[in-house]
This record gives sequence, C-alpha cells and structure tokens, in this order.
Amino acid sequence: MAGAEQSHRWTLQAKTALVTGGTKGLGHAIIEELAGFGAIIHTCARDKSQLNECLSQWQKKGFQVTGSINNVGGIRAKPTLDCTADDFSFHISTNLESAFHLSQLSHPLFKASGSGNIVFISSISGVVSLNPSSIYSATKAAMNQLARNLACEWASDGIRANAVAPGVIATPMAASVYDDHFKKIAIARKPLGRFGEPEEVASVVAFLCPLENPVSGLLDSRRAMAGAMAGAEQSQRWTLRAKTALVTGGTKGIGHAIVEELAGFGAIIHTCARDETQLNECLSQWQKKGFQVTGSVCDASSRTERVKLMQTVSSVFGGKLDILINNVGAIRAKPTLDYTADDFSFHISTNLESAFHLSQLSHPLLKATGCGNIVFMSSISGVVSLSIGSIYSATKGAMNQLARNLACEWASDGIKVNAVAPAVIATPLADAVYDDDFKKVVIARKPLGRFGKPEEVASVVAFLCMPAASYITGQTICVDGGLSVNGFSYQPQV
Ligand SMILES: NC(=O)c1ccc[n+]([C@@H]2O[C@H](COP(=O)([O-])OP(=O)(O)OC[C@H]3O[C@@H](n4cnc5c(N)ncnc54)[C@H](OP(=O)(O)O)[C@@H]3O)[C@@H](O)[C@H]2O)c1
Repeated sequence: MAGAEQSHRWTLQAKTALVTGGTKGLGHAIIEELAGFGAIIHTCARDKSQLNECLSQWQKKGFQVTGSINNVGGIRAKPTLDCTADDFSFHISTNLESAFHLSQLSHPLFKASGSGNIVFISSISGVVSLNPSSIYSATKAAMNQLARNLACEWASDGIRANAVAPGVIATPMAASVYDDHFKKIAIARKPLGRFGEPEEVASVVAFLCPLENPVSGLLDSRRAMAGAMAGAEQSQRWTLRAKTALVTGGTKGIGHAIVEELAGFGAIIHTCARDETQLNECLSQWQKKGFQVTGSVCDASSRTERVKLMQTVSSVFGGKLDILINNVGAIRAKPTLDYTADDFSFHISTNLESAFHLSQLSHPLLKATGCGNIVFMSSISGVVSLSIGSIYSATKGAMNQLARNLACEWASDGIKVNAVAPAVIATPLADAVYDDDFKKVVIARKPLGRFGKPEEVASVVAFLCMPAASYITGQTICVDGGLSVNGFSYQPQV
C-alpha cells in the first residue's frame, strides 16, 4: 500500500456492523473478514452453544464481536408441487422478511451515523434457474430487487444497498441441501470447476462495506483495507505485490487512476498512450511516488503497434503477465444516422478490436503465470441505452459478452475475465464528450446524485485482480452510482 491516502480509503477500522447468521458458513467468513479489517461486529444465530464457542474463538483472535440468539435463513429443497403453505412462509419469513424488516429497523441507526451499507446475501438461484427450490430462489430474486429499490430510495440518507449472489459455496448448508448428483452437475457447469470457499464471498462483502467517504459510488466501497488487516492470510488475499500488469491508456482519466491503484498495492506496471510527452511526464511522477511503472508509445487501434506493445511487455516482464487491463476507449457521440463508415471502424478498432487482440496476444503470458486476470473497461452504455452513440455502446456491449465468453473459454488456463461498466466518471474524455445538459440529466438519474471519480472505478479493477476476488469471473460490474437500477423510482432534484 503506497500512501496514507490509499490505506485511509481501504479500511473498516472502527466501523460497526450487524452480520446475521455469523456462526457458520458465509456469515462466519464475513465476520472474520470484516473484523480482520478492524470492524466491530454484532452477530446472531439460533444455536446458543455454537454462538458462545464462536464468540470465545473470536475473542482469542482479538476480534471485537458480540452476539445474540436469533433466527436467520434457510432452504427446504423440494420440487415446487411438494411445497406446502408452511414451506412457503418459512422461506418468506426467514429469507425475505427478516432481511426486509432488519433493513427497516437499521435505517435510523444508519441515518444517525451519516453513512450506511446494506449487503443482502442473495444467491445465483435468484438470477438464473437452479434446482432445488423455486420459492427459495424467488426470495433471493426478491432480495436482489430490494437492493435496487433501497439503493434508490435511501441514497439521499447516505445509505448504499447491494446484493451479493454466490453460487454453490462449500458451507454446512450446501453440504446438507445439495446431493452428490447436484454437486457434480454444478461443478461441471462452472468454468472455474470447483465450489467457492466462504471467504471468497466474504471478501466481496467486505469490499462493498462503507469506507471513509459516505457518499461514494455503488461499488465505491473500495479501498480494500490495508493497514488494519488481522493476519498474514488475510493480507495475502488483499494484495497485488509483485504482480505484473499491462494497463492500456494509463496517462489520463480512469487508466491513470488504475495505474496508481494497482501500483499502490505493489504491482509492477507497463502502460501505453499515444502522447509521448504526457507519457514521460506521468512516468517521472510515478517514479517520484515510488511506483514501478514503465511505458511505451502505442496507438492501441493499430494491429502492428499492438503486436509491438506485447513484445515490449513480454521482454519487460520476462514472458509472463499477471494482469491485462483493456482500458483504452474513445467515443464520437453522434445520432446513429450521422455515423459514417469511418466512425464505425474507428470505434471497432479502438474499443473492441484492440481489447480482443490484446487479450489474444497476452494469453500465453497470462497462462504462463497460472493465475491471470483480464479486465475490460466497458461502460454502462453497454448495459442500458444512453444517448451517447449507438456504435460506442455496441462496442461496450460486445466487451461485456467477450468477458463472459473468455471467462468460460480460458478458465482452464487459470485466467479470470471480467468487465467493469462505469457511468459518467469525471475524466478528460467525459469533459470533452458530454455537454452540460447531458451531465445534468445523468446526475439527476443517479441515486448517488453525482459523477463518479476515476479512483472509484480503479478500486473495483484492483479488487477484481486480487486473490480476494478469486471466485468472480465472467461478470460485468456496474460502477454507476445506481444509474442502471433506477427505473423511475428516484425523484430527480433538478
Ligand atoms: N469517463 C467516463 O465517463 C467513462 C464512462 C464509461 C466508460 N468509460 C471508458 O473508460 C475508458 C477510459 O476512459 P477515460 O474517460 O479515462 O478516457 P480519457 O480521459 O480520454 O483517457 C484515455 C486514456 O487512453 C489513452 N488512449 C486513448 N486512445 C488511445 C489509443 N488509441 N491508443 C493508446 N492509448 C489511447 C489516452 O492517452 P492518449 O490520448 O495520449 O493516447 C489516455 O491515457 C474508456 O474505455 C472509456 O470508454 C469512461
């Protein structure tokens, strides 16, 4: 961790948290992760002796955790036609009503603290269809929607809400509910080819928790938490020490913030841009900050220059690369009917082909490390329609799909692939492209009511490249201040 500024942003020191169901599985791992970053926690469970045992273990570890008896969550795995009225109300009350009511009850406490963070532990069964229980899955989908609604409704109270949707994690609940046949099928369907570990979910929850700045973006929870980490094991999962990275377009805006964020976590970076003077200026600033960054001039829209860039990267890093950040992107904002053939190929070559080809070129280097990471810098305009250019948006939609495809195709090579989709981040590109009317409308549509900052995107990118995010692949993570989940529930304040 490079500076006090970065470690100040990545901490949960003295934050207070309620984690329901903390004596086993995911809840237990979440407590250990949050407490490891300095949070003070209260938890609840049904089994008193197990709760007391956990509390005494946590005390020995130096964690600040208290507990009380309560009923939290569960699943009764049954075909839909076998579900009774009691099964129905069991799932509603334990999974959905408890989460809904506790959110209501915690609202005044969050408001009193000036910032709050709700994380619903949903399930991938609330996103796609999975046996073994339709009503369990429906409660999880309801939690995903609750996160969207509360994110909009309570944003002005300084409260952020997100849902985390794990898919088959090795916990006591999974062991009791899923039979061997189900487990075999689930593993065969997962590109990563294994069950997740509870701490791989806990790290995401910790990342989503509130940090110093109470009005930060949807996934701004960022700044994982240096400084206050409890043990060697935890600090090994939350580091990029000695990892090698290529970040394209690192001299300005989001790319510049990514270089600084990765370097702050100990990564060794190569970057590129077209403007040589600006590149040299950045390199000399980074050297003064003690960051290990090299750079070369390259137009990423040129096939020949991309090949040359990757040759340089290979020689700088000895034929291996841990991280590729495909950040370069450009936009010519026009109505669709005004686009020329040149506009079309400009967007394709700069945004899509550069990212696709650099991924191909980096594959042997990423494979050589045994645990590579690719992140595509997409855009929220690749997820919903924004009037900033249909071709630009199509290239971003294509990047989201590329992330899904490569995540599956290259998982067996030890490569994870994700996309990050920001919405209106204060950068030179945003200044040049968006006029004042557009900016006003976008801010009015964002529950968080402001533009994002480059470092609020960079933190998500850094997290995705850490061992702490080892079970996340093929995803498109929106860093958009809630823009993409706001239908029309948010009342614009313009
Ligand atoms: N800002 C936003 O609101 C926003 C929202 C969603 C998505 N994004 C995406 O985020 C990424 C970064 O955007 P930004 O706002 O940070 O842009 P920016 O402020 O314009 O910075 C772009 C960086 O990329 C370099 N670059 C541009 N074209 C290049 C090329 N052909 N070859 C090599 N380097 C090139 C630039 O340096 P040179 O000019 O010297 O080459 C600069 O370092 C883009 O993919 C963009 O689509 C941005």
